[in-house]
Amino acid sequence: MKNFIAYNPTKLYFGKNVVSELGKPASAYGNHALLVFGGGSVLRNGSYAAVRMQLEQHGIRITEYSGIKPNPRVEDVRKAAEIGRKQAVDMVVAVGGGSVIDSAKIIAICIAENCDSWELMTGKYNPSRALPLIAVLTLAATGTEMNSAAVLQNRETGQKIGFKHDLNYPALSFLDPAYTLSVPADHTAYGIVDLVAHAMESWFGQGKATLSDRFVIAVIEEAMDVGPALMKQPDHYELRERIMWAATNALNNLTGYGRISGEWGVHALGHVLSFLYDTPHGATLSVIYPAWMKAMRERAGERIRLLGSRLFGTRDMDGTISRLEDFFRELGSPVRCQDAGIEPAKREEILALMNRNRSQGIHFRLTDAEREEILSHAFQTR
Ligand code: NZQ
Ligand code: ZN
Repeated sequence: MKNFIAYNPTKLYFGKNVVSELGKPASAYGNHALLVFGGGSVLRNGSYAAVRMQLEQHGIRITEYSGIKPNPRVEDVRKAAEIGRKQAVDMVVAVGGGSVIDSAKIIAICIAENCDSWELMTGKYNPSRALPLIAVLTLAATGTEMNSAAVLQNRETGQKIGFKHDLNYPALSFLDPAYTLSVPADHTAYGIVDLVAHAMESWFGQGKATLSDRFVIAVIEEAMDVGPALMKQPDHYELRERIMWAATNALNNLTGYGRISGEWGVHALGHVLSFLYDTPHGATLSVIYPAWMKAMRERAGERIRLLGSRLFGTRDMDGTISRLEDFFRELGSPVRCQDAGIEPAKREEILALMNRNRSQGIHFRLTDAEREEILSHAFQTR
């Protein structure tokens, strides 16, 4: 194993009605909250009303910032941080999916530090404090509720990038699976793909860590067990509960201890598709993961074979990749660019941005030729 530090400061409340416990610990942080949310789904599923009631009952004043978009943009984060700073809020409360919570992480640092959000994202600004962040998650997917990452896009620089920092961990996270019952089929599927992809990014990280391998396999098996059933029964609370907990554990460090890092090459390539075509995050991963594995047959061959033997009882690489594609298809997530509405004519545009951004992972660094090969697989017709 590689040396590691085990650290996760997020206090996570999980289960039915846990939001009813939010007000008391929030009141310990002060009496004025910036409440951040997205396009309005939280107004329809009851989470917004429940959070507001908790804050009000505990004497916490609320300033709102709404309209955070999926594939969130740095301009919104800048505006929200400016409002929070002017209003001198004591805490940030985020209600929504990964886009809202990621934005709130950066907002919470930028209010405390009075720094520019993109300078922070790109590592030009080194922060030392953040306002406490309370996350109320309504979509099982990213793991942001219990991790140190945030992902934003910048239309001016042509990038969608991640930023990891210990200050990004939410202080408190509330996960009531009932709020995910309203997630539509497409985003339910993308969330399942995302959590499987997170487990696999760990799997392809550098270093030997057998217990982490077992956690990876357990998370993916849970997703493969629950995913297809959930797509058929989207109102099934217990299935929602299981997938929500699996998504948290896919990216809360558990699957990565003992390795230098995860791989993250597939994510970096997927972010280019999200940037160019606003493709939902999970949809980019179900297209790129099989394509990346095909291009990495030699370099990552042994890990692909081991994954196949643990998940599907086969050491055949092609068999493993096609079983994975079948799983993504069964969920209803795209496995080729065309399935995601991206036509072959866009190939050069995508490749140019991937090469310009040097999109790649941490362990398996990619050459321009490899990026081109991955893209060919992503457009390959059956
Ligand atoms: O905008 P609203 O109205 O909230 O609607 C959202 C959005 O349209 C909707 N939604 C959320 N909860 C719902 C719901 N609709 C009905 N019922 C509910 N309960 O779903 C749509 C997608 O929401 P979004 O937050 O964008 O999805 P997700 O949670 O998948 O987050 C994706 C973002 O997270 C980043 C991705 O790159 C992407 O920008 N990631 C963050 C990571 C992290 N911080 O660790 C890791 C991931 O790899 C990922 O990169
Ligand atoms: Zn992801």
